Amino acid sequence: MCGIIGIVGTAPVEARLIVSLKRLEYRGYDSAGVAGFTASGVERRRAAGKLKNLEAVLAAQPLIASVGIGHTRWATHGPPTVGNAHPHQAGRVTLVHNGIIENFAELKAALTAEGRVFQTDTDTEVVAQLLDRELGSKPPLAAFKATLDQVRGAFALVVMIDGEPGMLLGARNGPPLVIGHGDGEMFLGSDALAVGPFTNRVSYLEDGDFVAIEHGAARVFNQAGQPVDRPAQVVPQSPALMEKGNYRHFMEKEIHDQPEGCQRTIAAYVDALTARAAMPGGIDFAVLERIQIVACGTSYIAGLIGKYLIEPLADLPVDIEVASEFRYRQPALRPGSLVIAMSQSGETADTLAALRWCQARGMRSAAVVNAAGSTMAREVDVVWPIHCGPEIGVASTKAFTAQICVLTALAIAAARARGRIDAGEEQRLVRVLLEAPRLIAESINLEDAVRGVAAEVAKARDVLYLGRGPMYPLALEGALKLKEISYIHAEGYAAGELKHGPIALVDENTPIVILAPFDSYFEKSASNMSEVMARGGQVVFITDPEGQAHAPAGARVVVTTPRCDPLIAPLVMSAPIQLLAYHVAVLKGADVDQPRNLAKSVTVE
Ligand code: F6R
Repeated sequence: MCGIIGIVGTAPVEARLIVSLKRLEYRGYDSAGVAGFTASGVERRRAAGKLKNLEAVLAAQPLIASVGIGHTRWATHGPPTVGNAHPHQAGRVTLVHNGIIENFAELKAALTAEGRVFQTDTDTEVVAQLLDRELGSKPPLAAFKATLDQVRGAFALVVMIDGEPGMLLGARNGPPLVIGHGDGEMFLGSDALAVGPFTNRVSYLEDGDFVAIEHGAARVFNQAGQPVDRPAQVVPQSPALMEKGNYRHFMEKEIHDQPEGCQRTIAAYVDALTARAAMPGGIDFAVLERIQIVACGTSYIAGLIGKYLIEPLADLPVDIEVASEFRYRQPALRPGSLVIAMSQSGETADTLAALRWCQARGMRSAAVVNAAGSTMAREVDVVWPIHCGPEIGVASTKAFTAQICVLTALAIAAARARGRIDAGEEQRLVRVLLEAPRLIAESINLEDAVRGVAAEVAKARDVLYLGRGPMYPLALEGALKLKEISYIHAEGYAAGELKHGPIALVDENTPIVILAPFDSYFEKSASNMSEVMARGGQVVFITDPEGQAHAPAGARVVVTTPRCDPLIAPLVMSAPIQLLAYHVAVLKGADVDQPRNLAKSVTVE
């Protein structure tokens, strides 16, 4: 979950390391550090907290080097102090690491017994100590391989060795590491975005690979130490999507990006002229027995909405489970199923492990991902990209709605393939989906109304979100968004579960957000609303014009989203809950794009 960058440059690297770390800060921002080969040897600069603290250190003490490494940390072992900030050093070795070294305790004990003295609480330092020990008897590459053979766990590493000023070593086992091919310069980075400011030619290391980069050359080896070719690919760069523009936060911008993002997504899966839906990749939905979705966090919630859409429309069973549970509980699977990994980053460790678990049991696999070059995208049989552009804000917004667009198209395509709908109904549903971007834009226009609600919600200690049908997952998402960026405790519940416990929370200080378009569930949701109000609960009612007309009197606030077909209600009703969380967080002065303790790409379990 940390971000790493290495540059073997022909020009100064300090500013470039910072540019890259800014792009990587989404992976963690507990501390940051850089190191470089200077005229007087290897030097490093480190600071606890956000990157701006490191920039202040560098302003006072510049790092004059043309070969260097950088790191932005999401702490796993040891608190986020300067001492625990990467790069870590031992003897001739200076390195940065993303991941977890699982056998660090036993290695540390053995190295300590040999007389080595550790400076930090981190798991990473054992790699530096181990490599320094191996360098005592072996040349750099052999020492590096010998070190990698001894460490267990998930890691991406970039290493400097004192005395080898024109070279950086890198290794990948789990978390991604890419090689950037420049003009006489070479780069190593956590992803294509990290090296994007310098080159768009990128090769992806495979698990077990290690590499030595020098000016203009990269030598890659597999786990057995044999040279391998990892061809460079040109990756599209989209600088505009990396900027905030006139918005205060990336999250705000990304909420507003959704109409355009969803339009791009939908265009990839439906033909607007013929009004047909098509999922590329040759999956025969007519004979498919079952879909198993694995995902985490917001991607899991998008998958849950998919279940509510696919099962009734296509009569195709969909199982969905959080990947961290699924991967360890020996689920009973059938080979006639398709596993779909849902992931914005395409790198989430638990989702990747769950996906591989299914693949190892002979299941066909697909991934709904945003990051086209990600590990999941490269390992599945079929990739269904969501095309919404880089998502920088840690709280997922535009990737969520784009994922729902893909699953809505899938529901329509599968329903048609399985003979559950005829061509006319397919065309009607596709036209409904094509309307979604315009209606999402109208929903976003409710921002002023939502800002008013936010002023109330910001005073609360607890908030309850309720919904039925596809609005139940959306209630989960509303609660997740609120707690992760505003730090207000929130719970999402199926409204029918209200009487089985959560109603005890209802009092005049607890806002209850009820999501209820005027659909087949509406009457029941309205009853729940009455029950809450009868107990003094302050209801924020998010509905559509018909719902507003039929609502029981007494809701504290009503937010009225545009009227739409139930197929796209989850898309149209997403913006108000995202904007609510966003404005509450802004009012509370929280760090919206980089909430505490979180990171965008969770590459450790
Ligand atoms: C919440 C959020 C996270 C991610 C989760 C999975 O706003 O962003 O819950 O959804 O960490 O990440 P991906 O989709 O990259 O697998």
